[in-house]
Amino acid sequence: MVNVLEAQPYFMNDQDHPRTGGVTQEPRKTKKNGVKNLKGAQAISEFHLQTKKSYNKTIMNHIQTLQNKKYFIKTFGCQMNENESEQIAGILESHGAVPCDRFEDGNIIIINTCAVREKPVEKLFSLLGRLKNIKQKNHACIGIAGCVAQLYKDKIIQKNKAADFVIGPDNLNKIPDVINSLSESDSGIIQTSRNRDWIEINHISRQNQISGYVTIMKGCDNFCTYCIVPFAKGREKYRPLKNIKEEAKGLAEKGYKEIQLLGQNVNSYHDPDSAKDFPSLLKEISQIRGVEWIRFITSHPKDLSEKTIHTMAEMDKICHQLHLPVQSGSDHILKRMGRGYTRKEYLEKIELLKTSMPDISLSTDIIVGFPGETEKDFYDTVDILKKVEYTNIFSFRYSQRPFTAALKYKDNIPFETKKRRLITLQEAQRNIQLKLNKSFIGKKMKVLCMGRSKKNHNSYIGRNEAYQVINFKSDKDMTGRFVIVEITACGPYSLIGIFHSMAK
Ligand code: 5AD
Ligand code: SF4
Repeated sequence: MVNVLEAQPYFMNDQDHPRTGGVTQEPRKTKKNGVKNLKGAQAISEFHLQTKKSYNKTIMNHIQTLQNKKYFIKTFGCQMNENESEQIAGILESHGAVPCDRFEDGNIIIINTCAVREKPVEKLFSLLGRLKNIKQKNHACIGIAGCVAQLYKDKIIQKNKAADFVIGPDNLNKIPDVINSLSESDSGIIQTSRNRDWIEINHISRQNQISGYVTIMKGCDNFCTYCIVPFAKGREKYRPLKNIKEEAKGLAEKGYKEIQLLGQNVNSYHDPDSAKDFPSLLKEISQIRGVEWIRFITSHPKDLSEKTIHTMAEMDKICHQLHLPVQSGSDHILKRMGRGYTRKEYLEKIELLKTSMPDISLSTDIIVGFPGETEKDFYDTVDILKKVEYTNIFSFRYSQRPFTAALKYKDNIPFETKKRRLITLQEAQRNIQLKLNKSFIGKKMKVLCMGRSKKNHNSYIGRNEAYQVINFKSDKDMTGRFVIVEITACGPYSLIGIFHSMAK
């Protein structure tokens, strides 16, 4: 079943949609200076243009100013959403709002949503149901951001009386004005207009003080047949290289040790000013002093160039770690998914990665139960796991998403079959990971310590270059430091060790 609500896509002029071919929907797709605000009257008239007046909705809040108002942001979804929430936090803080730790304490509650799969969308609506009480008690205002906001717009406000405003990804800067104008309005505010230009957000309130996200591009032009992202996030747009470098330098100056470059399809990056490509960006970021590890996510196998692989191998700071979603190991299914590569081509890229960087750690995304997936197709996917020996996988049961080209296929794989295939796949991966992790016992590895474990006082949590989580014991607080850890034990999903020495 496609989702309960009738969604509205990001693109309105979808004539150039590569797969649905012309199904017209709608036009397409952790302080104060630098936050681009709309000026008073202009802002209000723009909001009123987009405000739906007909819902007979009572707004509980009367927030005149954000000064000292407590905000709470709940994030669903990927690292890009996490980074977007850090931007929202930065914008709110630049207007005087302060963070709080629980929904219950918030005057401003923002839910940053994910629409990639059916489950997170369902979770959002059940959460909104629960938030009604808090809203009444605190006179809180509730905003919905992210992909669901962009796709479901006024349906969210119509269906759920708890939500006061809906904000699209290109409108984050407008959040303070939206909140301030709520008291004048008797209905929800919807700000989901899109902007083809890159909008800089200069205030980011970061969750992590050691590893920093830097968004380099947004959107996706690939239109894989199962995927809602191009409709929710819009077409690809690229951040100017000079702004990326500036943000990365700022992080280095603040003592960040690692930078994670983010985008739905990072390999197709090119600088809008100079047309420099992704490997050039990697080289320039590598030259920033202070940062020691650089990673990037997400890569599309068809766009991962030999030049990028060679750059990864050549540049010391670029981690030998890559998330390369395969989705399926069967040519028949890959074709139906519109992925633009064959199993053989994918495996050839893996081969090149492994010969260029024998220590590379690979992870992937897999969908089981895509329409038409036979047992043979499924076992071709299991076989890919065995061939590649991924360090980690993210696996999902296929669910139909609105607007996607795969809706033309019958969702013909019974739920029980999808469930069984997912368990079989995860079991196969579990064995691979256990074997891999056991091989590390007795070995020493460089780990970036992210902080103390909540459960155990002398225990710390870090990540190695392969992006695996390492729990290790240490007498001294090693937070934010590179250390050498000796691995003493493991499970399929964890590595346990003991501090050995400081890393050079
Ligand atoms: N059903 C199941 N999984 C999906 N993904 C994207 N769309 C769907 C869908 N309709 C998975 C893909 C993608 C990851 C972010 O989510 O594996 O890489
Ligand atoms: Fe979705 Fe990724 Fe395909 Fe883009 S490349 S359509 S984000 S699965």
